Amino acid sequence: MRRKVIAGNWKMNMLPNEAIKMIDELTPLVKDTENEVILCVPYTDLFYSLLVAQNTNIKIGAQNMHFEESGAYTGEISGPMLKSIGVEYVIIGHSERRQYFAETDETVNKKIKAAFKYGLKPIVCVGETLEQREAGKANEIVTNQIEKALEGLTDEQVKNTIVAYEPIWAIGTGKTATAEDANEMTKAIRNKIENIYGQNVAEEVIIQYGGSVKSSNAKELFSMSDIDGGLVGGASLKSDEFAKIVNFNN
Ligand code: 13P
Repeated sequence: MRRKVIAGNWKMNMLPNEAIKMIDELTPLVKDTENEVILCVPYTDLFYSLLVAQNTNIKIGAQNMHFEESGAYTGEISGPMLKSIGVEYVIIGHSERRQYFAETDETVNKKIKAAFKYGLKPIVCVGETLEQREAGKANEIVTNQIEKALEGLTDEQVKNTIVAYEPIWAIGTGKTATAEDANEMTKAIRNKIENIYGQNVAEEVIIQYGGSVKSSNAKELFSMSDIDGGLVGGASLKSDEFAKIVNFNN
């Protein structure tokens, strides 16, 4: 049985004092869960969050990284920088980064390789737009993104990659994919991974759903056969609401 992994993506929200307060409040609420709990926070919250989350079951991730080790890339943060302060996870290729910051399948692939090189675990986002879904192309688009994102990785690396299927039309819109549609796509992603890397690898990969997940729909989504948890935006900003999502199976 695959474990369930519930990750929050705070995006560009939360000052350090707010981050500290939220994690302090969240800690007792999720301490007994068997699910994995991750918070992906802004760079400026990382160090504070890591300190407050020390000796808890809450893991801390970043939301992006550069693929080079160091150099003249003003404003960027590298894998070794994240690793050096104790960051464990990093979101790669979120649709907002693809849309507003010109990330491509190629940079996503480079960043995933860099994440593994520097000892970070990537949470890789894929997903289709509404137009692509309405044109019947969602499956092709998403499985193609997966193939390109994972290109050149070893079996072991693929096993340790978390994939987040986030249909773009469901992000921040309050519109959630139906549990059946979300499960169908996570299955398609798993099949694609199986075709390339074999069944052993595909069975182990954690595939999350993201897009307007909240406490009222988490259980239905996360109970589906191929959905192994979620990547949660807005609903991860409040400790009580996020705790309910983490504890969806209680
Ligand atoms: P919302 O949960 O706010 O729709 O955001 C989803 C998301 O983009 C998580 O990465």
